[in-house]
Amino acid sequence: MWSGRFSGKPDKLMQEFSQSVSFDQRLWKEDIQGSLAYAAELQRIGILDEKELADIKTGFATITKEIESGKFEWKVELEDVHMNIEARLTELIGDAGKKLHTGRSRNDQVATDFRMWCVNRSAEIQSATAELGLAITERAEETIDVIIPAYTHLQRAMPVRMAHHLLAYVSLMYHSRYSLPGYNFGGEIRYSPLGSGACTGNSFGVDMKRLANDVLPYGARGAPMLNSMDAVSNRDFALDLIFACAKCMTHLSRISEDMILWSSSEFGFVTLGDAVTTGSSIMPQKRNPDACELVRGKTGRVVGHLMALFTTLKGLPMTYNRDLQEDKEAVFDATDQTLACLRVMALVFSKENFKVNRERIQQQLDSGAGYMEAMNVADWLVLQGVPFRDGHDITGRLVKYVESKGMRFADLTAEDLKAVDERLKPELLNELSLEALVERKQVYAGTARAQVEARLKELKDWLKE
Ligand code: ARG
Repeated sequence: MWSGRFSGKPDKLMQEFSQSVSFDQRLWKEDIQGSLAYAAELQRIGILDEKELADIKTGFATITKEIESGKFEWKVELEDVHMNIEARLTELIGDAGKKLHTGRSRNDQVATDFRMWCVNRSAEIQSATAELGLAITERAEETIDVIIPAYTHLQRAMPVRMAHHLLAYVSLMYHSRYSLPGYNFGGEIRYSPLGSGACTGNSFGVDMKRLANDVLPYGARGAPMLNSMDAVSNRDFALDLIFACAKCMTHLSRISEDMILWSSSEFGFVTLGDAVTTGSSIMPQKRNPDACELVRGKTGRVVGHLMALFTTLKGLPMTYNRDLQEDKEAVFDATDQTLACLRVMALVFSKENFKVNRERIQQQLDSGAGYMEAMNVADWLVLQGVPFRDGHDITGRLVKYVESKGMRFADLTAEDLKAVDERLKPELLNELSLEALVERKQVYAGTARAQVEARLKELKDWLKE
């Protein structure tokens, strides 16, 4: 492509080192779409005639078929996806193909293609978060009646509906979705660099606004970037997408960690199905939560891609520098891993694989360990007009009493209450159930049944949007 100025060829080692076609061929669809938009603009401004534009369209149709059928011959010596496709176009249609790059540079070309690819990828991740959210919502519907301990500091804190706990995960999907670039047509990603040329603009007067609307799927809201130098060297959209992936993965990692705990013999809240667990090569009794462990493990890798891209970008002088080629593998892998993890987690939360051990959970609650009933006492005292701090102290003394006697709250009698404090009346004994405590959490974000059911419905509607 630049043979005029050179008399020698790049070293074989250099060729291998510098090529990106082995990975950036993933951009082929966007490359063709961007080129078609650009060719139409070249025809509008008189660089191409109608016949040439028609030839270009036919050429791209052929190339599309070749790539889709696996017949396209990708050549390392042509370095990247852009030059491979352009070279093939020229081979197929001759001179019109040679005119396509008029006023365009690979710098605005790759910045455009990659943005378009990221927009599409972001939408795919968005629907995967919705699918996982929906799978979890179904499990929540089945577990409104199951009460489990909620933990702080990994110590039993308060009783909670399992559905409420599961809806916290759906809420995490909600957050994940909001930061995806392009969500609700927002973010940096809707700006198009096409027409910026190598770095200072286009000499032939292409209409960047029209191009923006053609390449980015936002209808009238697509807009050109306002500075060509920034346009060819900016990768904020890639940072945003990796950030959204890293954030989503961090959420998935926490969910995985919960499932690893829940499926252990110590917790035993759930048993994960054969399809998402593995055995041990030495211990025949084992069932390991590998799917969840791998999700947790891959999170580090995705967060690493964010750091890698920040580091690549931080020292770059204006404008395009070849370092920028490193942006793609980071985004490809971050998004591949995130999509795979979202899909695997949807499998973990499928009906077949997420089996709730209701009896086991009940046994654990019946053991009285953790004294979660205590909050009932403190709440009851407040309702009797006792200042909360005094109620806290009285309840603390009651817990101490129960603990020292090696008993459970469920075993308390009116005499026990009286022995601790006069203000602990016998009718309190009817207020000690965990269910009662759960039902008092009648606030919008609380775990009372009516609230959980209402939020469940809202989240479900939102996921189906
Ligand atoms: N493969 C290159 C990349 O991904 C395309 C742009 C090359 N531009 C250049 N001036 N060498 O960044």
